[in-house]
Amino acid sequence: MPTRYAQRMAKVQPSAIGELLALGADPSIISFGGGYPDATLFPAAQLDAVFHEIIQKPGGASMQYAPSNGLPRLRDQIAGLMTADGMSCTADDVLILQGSQQGLDFAARMLIDPGDVIITEDPTFLGALIAFEPSQPRYAVVPVDAEGMQTDRLEAILTANPRAKMIYTVPDFQNPTGVTLSLARRKQLIALANRYDLIVLEDTPYRHIRFTGENLPTLKSLDTEGRVIHLCSFSKVLVPGLRIGWAVASPDILACMGLLKVAADTQTSTLNMAAASLFLDRYDLAAHIATLRAAYSAKKEAMLDAIRQHLPQDITATDPEGGLFTWLTFSEGFDTTDFMRRVALPQARVAYVPGATFFPLTPRANHARLNFSSPSLDAIRTGIAALGKALYANH
Ligand SMILES: Cc1ncc(COP(=O)(O)O)c(C=O)c1O
Repeated sequence: MPTRYAQRMAKVQPSAIGELLALGADPSIISFGGGYPDATLFPAAQLDAVFHEIIQKPGGASMQYAPSNGLPRLRDQIAGLMTADGMSCTADDVLILQGSQQGLDFAARMLIDPGDVIITEDPTFLGALIAFEPSQPRYAVVPVDAEGMQTDRLEAILTANPRAKMIYTVPDFQNPTGVTLSLARRKQLIALANRYDLIVLEDTPYRHIRFTGENLPTLKSLDTEGRVIHLCSFSKVLVPGLRIGWAVASPDILACMGLLKVAADTQTSTLNMAAASLFLDRYDLAAHIATLRAAYSAKKEAMLDAIRQHLPQDITATDPEGGLFTWLTFSEGFDTTDFMRRVALPQARVAYVPGATFFPLTPRANHARLNFSSPSLDAIRTGIAALGKALYANH
């Protein structure tokens, strides 16, 4: 019996490269594909201790239902972290989410009617497009260069798209390119959002994993009109399995997202919120993040060294100041999806994410996203050398 699905499901389709990425999960393949943190650096012993402690605590509060907008203590701790990052706020300004991914879903559901326009970077985070798609948006895209979204192109795009309601950006160490939005462009983006009455969805899961350079102010800290929804997450700096992210936004927006939270899942797991909260009380998150920074920075250097040494000279790689990814650009006409299927997986035994999938409107085939946080240093060197060999053999 054919099911009469709602229209919003029309574009909710499995990823065209899902089958290719599934092949990358084969343990005999070196994967630069997923956006995974390094599991060997998970603070497992500390999490073991905090989970034990919260479960043993008399009264069973950590196993009980909790307020839908999050445990008050955790909201307060997160407000402290956000305030330290230049976004002065209190617990009331924080909504705990099931990962920042849930904030992407809520933002679209809250703001987008079918046919409304979401402006994104080009390329952008695939998971955001997946979250936005059920709201049936149209997209307008802004190209990205070494300083992030080219905001000088934004005004023309806004004039051409009067139904633009929201602009989605990953300003720090963007997924997939690794680039960071410059300060001048941050200011220009906020000025245009004010002028064109846009909500800015600022997604910052990598922000605290900076290797070099100075921290730039968040868009939220530059927000004068309550237009920025700031999303952040413990996924990359603690563990993704906790599924804890949060939104900081103006009271009316946060209240609206809070209603969607009740509808979606009532609340984020009490156990996981209580564990995260006790972790912050007992241990030094900043010190843990410093360890991650050092490790990922060394891995990035190893990957870029190997790329310089082994890949054909016409292939360029971004040199991110933080985060988890570098972005390769091959010569025009090179198709990274086809190469992965025919050569990289079966011969080089290496996986990456073909770049075409990150472009909302017009896929460009000559890019690839490489993750350096998850593979070991050895795997990075071996994998890039194998990729280089395969590229020379098939160039
Ligand atoms: C840019 C970006 N936003 C959001 C997410 C979702 O993260 P979370 O685990 O907090 O849901 C990711 C995960 O990779 C990401 O890269």
